[in-house]
Amino acid sequence: MSTNPNPKDDEPVSEPQTESRPAQQPPAPHFEAVAEHRAVATAAAPAVFELEGVGVSYGGKAALADVSMGIASREITAFIGPSGCGKSTLLRCLNRMNDLIPGAAVVGRVGYHGEDLYGPRVDAVQVRKRIGMVFQKPNPFPKSIYDNIAFGPKVLGMASRRSDLDGIVERALRRAALWDDVKDRLKDNAFGMSGGQQQRLCIARALAVEPDVLLMDEPCSALDPISTGRIEDLMLELKEEYSIVIVTHNMQQAARVSDTTAFFIVDLRAGEDERIGRLVEHAPTDRIFTNPSDRRTEDYVTGKVG
Ligand SMILES: Nc1ncnc2c1ncn2[C@@H]1O[C@H](COP(=O)(O)OP(=O)(O)OP(=O)(O)O)[C@@H](O)[C@H]1O
Ligand SMILES: [Mg+2]
Repeated sequence: MSTNPNPKDDEPVSEPQTESRPAQQPPAPHFEAVAEHRAVATAAAPAVFELEGVGVSYGGKAALADVSMGIASREITAFIGPSGCGKSTLLRCLNRMNDLIPGAAVVGRVGYHGEDLYGPRVDAVQVRKRIGMVFQKPNPFPKSIYDNIAFGPKVLGMASRRSDLDGIVERALRRAALWDDVKDRLKDNAFGMSGGQQQRLCIARALAVEPDVLLMDEPCSALDPISTGRIEDLMLELKEEYSIVIVTHNMQQAARVSDTTAFFIVDLRAGEDERIGRLVEHAPTDRIFTNPSDRRTEDYVTGKVG
C-alpha cells in the first residue's frame, strides 16, 4: 500500500511554455553571493543598492537626473513626490525593467550588493528574479491561483517534483498572508479573487521565486483601507527577510511603514519644456515628516504644494 495519499506527488514537474531562458540554468555567478549575504545581514542594515549619479532618459529626453542614495537592506524605503517626478522610473532602474522600454537609457551607477547592476556580466533575467516587482494594478495571470504562484518556480526549474512545487506554492501564499483565504480553492481562476487578494497573490508570486528585494509601485492605490492595512502589515512582516522599496502617494502610508523616505520633485528650472525629476532629500522617515532639511519637502508633506 502506498503511503502517499496523493499519487501525483512524485510526478515530475513539466516546464511551462515560455520564451524565457531554459530551466535548471544555474544563477549567474554574481548572484550566488546574495543568499549568503542575506544570511549574514547585520542589524546595521548594509546597503542593498548604492546609486551614484543615476539618470534616465526616454528617447533622448531626460526624465530623471543625478540621483545618489543608498537603499538599506531589510528596511522599507519609500519614494514620494508629485506625479511625473520619476518615482516609477527610478524603481524600474533597480531591477532593469527600463531595459524593456524602447528608447529608455540609464546613466550613472546602480550598485547591487557591491556589483554594478548594469555590468556586462550581469544577467537581466536573474536580476528580475532576485528583485521582484509588484505593480499598482494587481496583474494576476489568467490562470488558477496555484498556477500563478507555480509559474515562476517552474520556469526557473526550482522544483523537480510536484510535491516540491506544492510546498513552494503553500509557503509563498502563507508568507503573503493568503493561504487561509485560498487553500480550498487553489484551482480556481485568480480573477475570481477580490482586488486586495489579487494584490497579495501578486506579492506571493513575487516571493515564490525567493527574491532578495521587493519593489512595489503604489501597491495599494486601488485597494480599500482594510486591504491596504493588510498589505502594510504584510510589508512590516516581510522586511524581516526582504529589502522593500515602495512608491506611494499616500503620505500616511509612507509614515506608517517606511524606515527612510526619499522625496523627489519635478525640476522646471531647466526650461519651460523640460521637466526633470530630482531627488531633494532622503532621510529617516520621521525626520522627513517632522523636521525635513529642505523647505520643498516640508511644503509637500504638509500638503502646501502637490
Ligand atoms: N515609457 C515612457 N516613455 C516616455 N516617457 C516616459 C515613460 N515613462 C515615464 N516617462 C516620463 O518620465 C517622467 C517620469 O515618469 P514616472 O512615471 O517615472 O513618474 P512618477 O513619479 O512615477 O509619476 P506618477 O506619480 O504619476 O506615477 C515623466 O515625464 C514621464 O512622462
Ligand atoms: Mg509612477
